[in-house]
Parts: sequence; structure tokens; C-alpha cells
Amino acid sequence: MKLPTIFTVPDPLLRKELTPISTFDQELSQMAETMIEVMRKADGVGLAANQIGIDARIFVYGLEAFELEGQKYRKIYAQSVIIPVIEVLESEMETMEEGCLSIPNLWGPVERPVRVRLSGQRLNGESFSREVTGYEARVIQHETDHLNGKLFLDYITDPSKLRR
Ligand code: NI
Repeated sequence: MKLPTIFTVPDPLLRKELTPISTFDQELSQMAETMIEVMRKADGVGLAANQIGIDARIFVYGLEAFELEGQKYRKIYAQSVIIPVIEVLESEMETMEEGCLSIPNLWGPVERPVRVRLSGQRLNGESFSREVTGYEARVIQHETDHLNGKLFLDYITDPSKLRR
């Protein structure tokens, strides 16, 4: 099967507030599976539906063997989150460099809350809610932003901090 290509800036779908999902069927599961495949193939840690041209509030993420500054992160198996809602639990912020599969070869420092609550639905429609911290919290915030048409670049006030 041919995998869909990743949409890059300035595609207008990357700037759209995406549509909620109300049908939890085989088609949705298949879409999530494809998204995970695309993410893995691109060596990404997350992927939102609009990044492969789909207008639906779903993202996938996974930190399966991710290393950052020599530190091995806790393994998080690839999973899907539908209609995510993020609530900030603490005012503590952390700045870390981010990149995005839709903005090739560009990285920049983004400040984000370190402790959040992620609520959403799984592929079977089941609701969940849990606390997320650290790097995982950053990834889910980045992906939720995508569903709202927001990109990491929007946080960068000083363009001289961008790295190619
Ligand atoms: Ni991204």
C-alpha cells in the first residue's frame, strides 16, 4: 500500500481548525493505523490528521525508541487520541527545541507547560483522561495545536532562534 505524503507549509489545511469525529468505526481505525505508519516512516514522534490531508480531530504519537540529548525516554507505544482536550495543571513552563514533519528542516525553542491533563477518546470511542508530564506533555500539546491550525512557529517571537 502506498502511504500518503506529508503535507507541508504553507498548505491551508495545516491552518484549519479541524472537524470533530463522531463515528468510531473500522474506517477510523484504518486511518489511525495509516497515520502511525506514516509517522514511523518519517521518524516522527507524532502526527495529526491534517498532516496527511484529513480534516478530523485525531492525532497519533509514540515515543518508541526516542533519544534526546543522550537521554533515553520512557517508551510510549504508538497510540491514537481523538478529540483531545488539554488542561494546564501547573504554571511551570519549560523551553525545548521542537521541529515538525510539516515544516522540514527547521527547529526552534518553544516554551510549554510541563504538566497537563489530556482528555480525549480512543479508537473504540471510550473516553479517557490522564495526567501527562515532561516530553510526552510537549508532544501531545504540539499535536493538539495541529488540530487547531496552530504550528510551533507561532510560539517563536525571535526568528534568530530558529535553526536549520
Ligand atoms: Ni508538527
